[in-house]
Amino acid sequence: MAHDLYLAARNAMAKAHAPYSKFPVGAALRTEDGRVFAGANIEVASYPEGWCAETTALGHYVMGGGGRIVEIAVTAERMARITPCGGCRQRLAEFAGPEAKLYLCDETGVVETVTLGEMLPYGFTGEILK
Ligand code: THU
Repeated sequence: MAHDLYLAARNAMAKAHAPYSKFPVGAALRTEDGRVFAGANIEVASYPEGWCAETTALGHYVMGGGGRIVEIAVTAERMARITPCGGCRQRLAEFAGPEAKLYLCDETGVVETVTLGEMLPYGFTGEILK
């Protein structure tokens, strides 16, 4: 099952718009009811305005109805075991619990599984804001 999420991330990576960094990234999320949402990084000429693959995937996920995220795969063409950037860890934690599985991948598939909680220890939660 992890491998199919890797393939979804890999297929999304092929759609990356990364002409400036030349660092295509793909991400895929699975909800507990089995829906998969994927995305790639999208860069713009005004560099800080671009965004990450995980963020694109989260946009699809929210517009697709949301739900509990249980698995996440991230892959990059030029880096094995890419991990989500700090901002994306926080974005993922908005919709996925600390027990959500995060698959780190190389060009063949998943090579390591960690949890989102391990990736974002002591993360900020919005509880007090509610
Ligand atoms: N990038 C992602 O898409 N996800 C990450 O978690 C790390 C970085 C993208 C952003 C930018 O388009 C390129 O990789 C180089 O930083």
